[in-house]
Amino acid sequence: MPVITEIEDFKRLYRRRVPKMFYDYCESGSWTEQTFRENSSDFDEIYLRQRVAVDMAGRSTKSQMIGQDVAMPVALAPVGMTGMQHYDGEILAARAAERFGVPYCLSTMSICSIEDVARNTSKPFWMQVYTLKDDAFMKNLFDRAKEAKCSAAVITVDLQVLGQRHRDLKNGLSAPPKLTPASVANMMTKIGWGMGMLSTKRRFFGNIVGHAKGVSDPSSLSTWTAQAFDQSLNWDRIREFRKMWDGPLIIKGIMDPRDALEACNVGADAIVVSNHGGRQLDGALSSIRALEPILDAVGDKIEVHIDSGIRSGQDVLKARAMGAKAAWIGRAYIYALGAMGQKGVKQALEIIQKELDTSMALCGHTDIEKVDRDILMVPKDFSGNWA
Ligand code: GLV
Repeated sequence: MPVITEIEDFKRLYRRRVPKMFYDYCESGSWTEQTFRENSSDFDEIYLRQRVAVDMAGRSTKSQMIGQDVAMPVALAPVGMTGMQHYDGEILAARAAERFGVPYCLSTMSICSIEDVARNTSKPFWMQVYTLKDDAFMKNLFDRAKEAKCSAAVITVDLQVLGQRHRDLKNGLSAPPKLTPASVANMMTKIGWGMGMLSTKRRFFGNIVGHAKGVSDPSSLSTWTAQAFDQSLNWDRIREFRKMWDGPLIIKGIMDPRDALEACNVGADAIVVSNHGGRQLDGALSSIRALEPILDAVGDKIEVHIDSGIRSGQDVLKARAMGAKAAWIGRAYIYALGAMGQKGVKQALEIIQKELDTSMALCGHTDIEKVDRDILMVPKDFSGNWA
């Protein structure tokens, strides 16, 4: 068994253990993948300021997200088809998150259903909601989330149409996977994954099958999004969703200060600055570059989180010091889940916390709540001086 010391180690194992179709789904951005790449590489342009001979004893990474206590300011982001990366993947990731003390957000496009995850966990999780045309489906989804005692709803607003990811089309991505000569040949080399999948009944989009009308192929993400998603979504419609859900609300997928202000007007409790992990608008700025103008626009009207590109505790520290209240991770835990299941996700969270904690100490801080922009050296034009 290789010694795991960083998230990249999980990625190498993950690539070996999970069918290509699902590895590619996770590890893709849209079109040229410029935004996907820059989401991570832009973090390298921000430097941390080392301090010495400062008392570094007795440190804490504890914080809060939308008023909920967290062991560190990190959430597990909603990731479609997590239950194809590892059998019962959503349940296992949610369990790892609850034991560690960070929020888990279930995707609408999960394999395990809301009810499955609720039955198999003991703390409330968050429910991500896609904006579909079908009003009955939407009402029912919020009701199901309420029934399952979800402690926040997360409306993703950046996927009215699906950004094209070439590899998903070339691989014929579906859940469960269609049996073609290429997919069968590849799956034959992923014995552990296959045995796991045979041991569970959860192989379909659990929140959709039996709930959504008018979808001709519920196994295909692209067919499903093209047929069911609401291309005419606007802020009035989002206000209708706000009325369907009276709990804490997070709006995810904001990249522009004007949209951030709209989200404040809807009565959301937080926004996530996100370009969907570089999977939607290719050519958009990285989330970390988009963050500051949004913070400037909203002030303290709303809590601002960030996702896209975060692969380490150092990235979390930089995001936090730039002003984000919290950072969400997607791929960083999916690699670990695909590699080693629940144990992997737990270890990934430990690795990120250790990186965060040690780097914070080396910047001269003992409490994540007190970290501010002073620990950063950010290029003057980092957030852009765009014409
Ligand atoms: C769906 O959320 C996706 O990005 O694939």
